[in-house]
Amino acid sequence: MVKKTFYITTPIYYPSGELHIGHVYSTTIAWVLRNYKKLQGYETKFLTGADEHGQKIASKAKQANITPQDYVSQMAQKFQDLWTSLEIDYDYFSRTSSLNHKQTVVNIFSTLLKSHNIYLGDYEGWYSIEDEEFLTQRQAKLHEKKYYHPISNHPLVRIKEISYFLKLKAHQSWLSNYWDTHPNFIIPHKVVNELRSNFLNQGLEDLSITRTTFDWGIKINENKDHVVYVWLDALTNYISALGYKTANNQDFQTFWQKGTEIVHIVGKEISRFHAIYWPIILHTLNLRQPSTILAHGWLITPEGKMSKSKGNVINPYDLIKKYDIETIKYYFASQIHLGNDGIFSEELLKNVHNADLANNFGNLLSRTSTLVSLHFPNGLNPLTSHDQTINEQITLSQQKYLAHLDKYEINEGLKIAINLSKFLNGYIEKTTPWNLTNDLETLNNVLHNLLNGIYSVATMLQIVMPKKMQVVKKIMGINALTFDLMTNFNKFIRIKITKSAPLFNRLK
Ligand code: MSP
Repeated sequence: MVKKTFYITTPIYYPSGELHIGHVYSTTIAWVLRNYKKLQGYETKFLTGADEHGQKIASKAKQANITPQDYVSQMAQKFQDLWTSLEIDYDYFSRTSSLNHKQTVVNIFSTLLKSHNIYLGDYEGWYSIEDEEFLTQRQAKLHEKKYYHPISNHPLVRIKEISYFLKLKAHQSWLSNYWDTHPNFIIPHKVVNELRSNFLNQGLEDLSITRTTFDWGIKINENKDHVVYVWLDALTNYISALGYKTANNQDFQTFWQKGTEIVHIVGKEISRFHAIYWPIILHTLNLRQPSTILAHGWLITPEGKMSKSKGNVINPYDLIKKYDIETIKYYFASQIHLGNDGIFSEELLKNVHNADLANNFGNLLSRTSTLVSLHFPNGLNPLTSHDQTINEQITLSQQKYLAHLDKYEINEGLKIAINLSKFLNGYIEKTTPWNLTNDLETLNNVLHNLLNGIYSVATMLQIVMPKKMQVVKKIMGINALTFDLMTNFNKFIRIKITKSAPLFNRLK
């Protein structure tokens, strides 16, 4: 049987600075969804990387007194080290300065020039070097006689230069129709409305895609004065990494053209590039479209959005030094509703760790494993009666969890797992198994219910805490946590359970 495929990407981050926890949040979401699909039997590919060209990076390299290539190589290594420290594994680390990527971009440029989707013209307008973004007069924000970026507030410079343009206007009605007929193309749906009112309704303007005033970029074949402007270069990475237009294009065929699902994780501020420019580029190349562009909100601190000037940028290593990496990833995956901004503080992280993990699930596991290992050292006997309420709770939790995750509602799915765990702790309080030592038959049945419940919670949590759930598997004497086995209620007969040390320590 041919496996279903799932290809998920993070934005490729600019190496102009260190990564902060906002980037970690984005990458964590992608990684968790990959883990979920893998568990569902999909063949998966996960891409992250670095977006290495542009004026800002060239000037950073100059400041550091090294070549841009050396500068980006150092930074790309730092990015990879961070993902290794967080135990976030991926299939591709895409770098736009790689030879393969550059060749693909040059090739695409020529194809689009030949098909008259690209033309040479004059560009005059505003540009934000910090954001590597062109802005129209309408978008530029005037403040005390100077113009600024409407979102980031970075200063804008006026540029006037000859440039190649990508036709967008000509494809606007195609795009609008595509959005209408593919309701899950952009999630959350509110993003579609924003993009319509901010861009489509005003009429798309053709996009300037080359520059002549700096040279740290991909040079096109047709005109050596021009380098490709960052977004055409950057977006293309999603297919160049798969081998598009190369001799070795097997992954491109399997995961893109014939792939089942393709998801781009993006922050809301870059949804425009992915929802407008990228589909038009693919359309003009006669390539298939991604299934979904999943736009998330920002991670903010109690002082507001992280920024250097506010001094509230959180370095991921400050957290890694203090907390279990799975606690950090659990916080990002479980506490933020995708699409909305979410607050992060260490205080909140500790509260969530203590409430959900230490007091709730950890406690459930240690109480249960202690009782089983004490009273049934060789494992439980067969069940003599099934508890319909517990079995229904487990079945229902499974259905809800899968439904949420299939809609990429990670936090809602994890909430289902934690609520089941809470329910099971309530069941312990109600049945007081420590008082059942004279009635081993009832105790045996109660413990089956608890183990079945714990198995289910662990199955649902493993997409974000694979290492901790590995420990749970060991304690429970089982090899795998699968959705199929969640609703088999006889799986703990004669399975030896180990008394466990606390799975999560309480944080002060
Ligand atoms: N290089 C482009 C992306 C090209 S993709 C073809 C870029 N890079 S970036 O370094 O600025 O990273 C932007 C991404 O970082 C956002 O889309 C988002 O995923 C993430 N975040 C940056 N700050 C963030 C927060 N404070 N909170 C959450 N995510 C944030 O744009």
